[in-house]
Amino acid sequence: MGVVPNADGSAMYKSGDTIAIAAVYGPKKMHPQHQQNPAKGQLRCDYNMISFSVSDRIRPGRNRRSMEISEITKWALEPVLLLEKYPNQVIDVFIDIIQADAGTRCAGINAAAMALAHAGIPMKDMVSSIALGKLDKTLVVDLTKEEEDYEEGEGATDIPISMTHGGKITHMQLDGKIGVNQLQEAVDLAKGACEKIYEVQKKALKDAIGMENGGED
Ligand code: CDP
Repeated sequence: MGVVPNADGSAMYKSGDTIAIAAVYGPKKMHPQHQQNPAKGQLRCDYNMISFSVSDRIRPGRNRRSMEISEITKWALEPVLLLEKYPNQVIDVFIDIIQADAGTRCAGINAAAMALAHAGIPMKDMVSSIALGKLDKTLVVDLTKEEEDYEEGEGATDIPISMTHGGKITHMQLDGKIGVNQLQEAVDLAKGACEKIYEVQKKALKDAIGMENGGED
C-alpha cells in the first residue's frame, strides 16, 4: 500500500511473476468540462503495460488491447463505487503492469480496488480478480503465460473473473471453449481464489491504515 506517495491512494499487487501498480487521483472536478455528468461521478481507468514488462519490448502508448482492458477494469470496479455521491467529478485510476506473466488485467483490478479503498473512496464491497484457465480438460487457477499458451488437446481457455466479497460477479471474460458444467466449476474455483485474495487485500489495507495512524491497529 502507498507505493505512490503523490497519489490519493495506491497499491501494488503481485501474483507469481505478474506485478501491477495502481494509483488513484480524486474524486476531483472532471476535465474536460463537457464530459461532466451532473447526475453522478465517473470512474476513468487507464491500464498500461510498461515497455520492459515482457522480454519483447512493448511499444509505449495506448493500443487496442490496453483500451479494452482499461474499459473492462472500469466495468469490474464501478459496481462497488457510490458514484452518485460525486456529481461532475471524476476518479482517475492509473494501472501500470511492471512485470507480466499472464493475468495482468486481474492483478491490475486487484491493485486498483486496494488503491481506491486506500484513497478513502467509499465502497460497497472489495473487488478481487483471478484468471482461471482450462488446459485441455483440466481447470487451473491463476495461469502463467506458459500455461496460457498451452496447445495440447483442446488447448487453453482463458477465463478472467472479478467478484465482490459478497460473491457478485462484476466482470467475466471467456476466450476459448468450455461446457456449462465446467464453467460453473470454474466460477466455484474463482470464488475460492477470490476469497484468499480478499484476505490479502484486507490485511494489506488494515496494516497500511494502522501504520498511517501511528502504528496502532
Ligand atoms: O495479461 P492478461 O492475461 O490479462 O491478458 P492477455 O492479453 O491474455 O495477455 C497474456 C499475457 O501475454 C500477458 O500477461 C503478457 O505476459 C503477454 N503479453 C505480451 O507478452 N505482449 C503483449 N503485447 C501482450 C501480452
